[in-house]
Parts: sequence; C-alpha cells; structure tokens
Amino acid sequence: MRHTFLGHQLKSHVMNAAGVHCTTLDELSILLKNTKGLIVTKTATLHPRQGNIKPRYAEIPGGSINSMGLPNLGIDAYINFITLNSMRAHRIILSIAGLSLNELIRVAHRANCSKALAIEVNLSCPNIDGKPQVAYDFQTTEYLLKQLGIIFDKPWGVKLPPYFDPIHFDQITELLNRSSVSFVTAINSPGNALWLDEDLKSVIVPKDGHGGIGGPMILPIALANVSHLRKRLRPEIEMIGCGGVETALDVKKHMKCGAQIVQVGTTLMKYGPHLLNELSASV
Ligand code: DHB
Repeated sequence: MRHTFLGHQLKSHVMNAAGVHCTTLDELSILLKNTKGLIVTKTATLHPRQGNIKPRYAEIPGGSINSMGLPNLGIDAYINFITLNSMRAHRIILSIAGLSLNELIRVAHRANCSKALAIEVNLSCPNIDGKPQVAYDFQTTEYLLKQLGIIFDKPWGVKLPPYFDPIHFDQITELLNRSSVSFVTAINSPGNALWLDEDLKSVIVPKDGHGGIGGPMILPIALANVSHLRKRLRPEIEMIGCGGVETALDVKKHMKCGAQIVQVGTTLMKYGPHLLNELSASV
C-alpha cells in the first residue's frame, strides 16, 4: 500500500510521536537512519531546557505517565540537525512550542527558515507549571493560528490535546478550517492524570505526581478524536493519528478513523525504533 503525506510518497506511514526517541542528537540520528518514514523532533523552545527533575516518566498499568517538563536542546540545535542531515530533511518534521506567545512566534520564525518537511506546532504541552494548554483556550488559539499563518510559508500543522465534548470539536475545527494549517495531529497525552503505586505514592514526583498519560489505555480517546476531527475538518487538511498504538491493528484503526499516518509514543519508548518498521511492515 502506498502512503502520501503533504504530497510526498512515504515508505512507511508509521513514525515516532514528538518527545519519544527524538530529544538528543544521538536519538534523532538513530531514528532517522533506522526508520523509513517521517520523524518528528522533540518539541523545541527558544532556549535549551533541562525539564523536570527525574523520575519523570513511568510505565503504569495500561500505559505510561510522564511529567517531562519540556526538556529539549533549543530550536537551533534541531535546525542544525536538519541542516547536517539535509539529504533526509524531507523526512523530518520540526515540533515547536513556546512558554509565551512571544516566544512561540520567535521559534516559529526560526523554524520557518529550516529545511524541515513541515512544522508541527504543539498547542498542547501539558507539563509546564503555571501554563495552560493553548488549545484549551480558543481565543488564544484563534489569535495564534492567524499569527502563525502570516509567519509560515512552509507546510505547518498543530498537535492537539484530546477534547471530550462535541461542541469543542465544532469550535476547534471552525478555527482550524479558517487557518492555513496543512495538517492536524491528534492527540497529545491526556494531561494531569495521576497514578499511585502500591505504597500509595505517586510514581512520578514533579507536579505532585500528575502527568500526561499514554499507551493502550488512551486508544479509544485518540480514535474518537481523530474521527470527530476528520468529519469536521476541510478535506485538504491531512491528519496524523497519535495515541494508544501498540499493534499494527491499532495503526489500521487510526487510519480507518481518518489518519493518513500514525505516530507512536509509549510503545516506541518501550521497544525502541525497530518497532516502527515492524508496525508499518505488517499493514
Ligand atoms: C511535554 C509533554 C507533552 O505531552 C508535550 O506535548 C510537550 C512536552 C513534556 O513534558 O516535556
């Protein structure tokens, strides 16, 4: 089966989810060399960040919980990585965010000058103390989509958090349909979940144990989001499905709901990059 994304033929329709195996340059090199499809870089801010104190990722029944706090090398390091790997730049999506609107705008300007295939703007960072997720604030989202549309002259899209109410799907897609996004990635981790271990202690320390969850337990939420968004988005806007993928059947489910390509987070974290080729070979 042939797969295309943004007009490009892909050798694989399975890729990493931002944040997994894509923070350090070593991780990115391994991912790029050992997988056949697209890859996305860790969500980058203007300056490098250490992230939250460890432990900040844990496996829990049904998946994972994390409160990473946006550790990343800063946007310039990821742009340099793309420049150094220019022969494969058409396979790289840059993920960006900002701790303020001003910062995001500055990061966006830099990302636009890169040779990346596209830019995934993360409107759904859940683990930053004192910061709401942009995509849960429709007024700010509307403003940002307009500003970003002015900045980008290369393909761009947004990574959304899960929504749970039909009205919210109507509202976000109305804004996206009026914007110049080429694609939408759904979903980011449902945020601010909590898991306690047998000692009744949280399994991750930052934010009192709260974190974003991933893995099989979020598959139904992810599928519903892909499906609701696909039904409402303009047909030209492409979709990347993300959330809960553990098997090739899960990949197919995402595609049945409307995703062209599919990202894998928790399961990639567990098994490593060879898993991506295995998932794509068996479809
Ligand atoms: C982090 C987590 C996310 O789900 C995200 O979209 C961006 C950053 C983090 O904690 O590093």
